Amino acid sequence: MTLPHISRQRSRVHGFGVFAREAINKNRRIIDYAGELVRNDQSEAREERYLAQGCIWVFRVNRRWSRDAGVGGNIARFINHACRPNCWFEIVDTTIWIRASKSIRAGDELTYDYATVGERTIPCRCRPGCPNTL
Ligand SMILES: C[S@@+](CC[C@H](N)C(=O)[O-])C[C@H]1O[C@@H](n2cnc3c(N)ncnc32)[C@H](O)[C@@H]1O
Ligand SMILES: [Zn+2]
Repeated sequence: MTLPHISRQRSRVHGFGVFAREAINKNRRIIDYAGELVRNDQSEAREERYLAQGCIWVFRVNRRWSRDAGVGGNIARFINHACRPNCWFEIVDTTIWIRASKSIRAGDELTYDYATVGERTIPCRCRPGCPNTL
């Protein structure tokens, strides 16, 4: 199966986001979240360094591993968070697949729920008046 065409563009949510360039059926695999595989005991320092700049690049894979999209990441690192997203992530071994959780139209911004843990200092701007933090 080929992956759908997507592109990075300015987003109303934050900075750059990732948008569908074609219609995407529910559950289709869209892209894998690339990044250096690092052990969680090493990723925490990186996470803090990125967070100090307001960025979340480290994706927790499982109890042992994380992916650091700050090193060797692909366009998936620009997918913004939404509390009512149109994508979900599926972890297969240490691969993080971003998949459609509903049918997506060409031009829609792709979002998934970051499910962040910890301090959650960033106010969520996924929609007007969203009360949550990332
Ligand atoms: C993985 S990056 C996403 C790409 C980011 N928009 C950019 O241009 O670099 C994650 C960062 O985007 C911002 N972000 C993503 N979703 C957001 C949301 N719903 N509300 C506010 N900021 C968000 C936060 O600053 C977060 O640290
Ligand atoms: Zn939100």
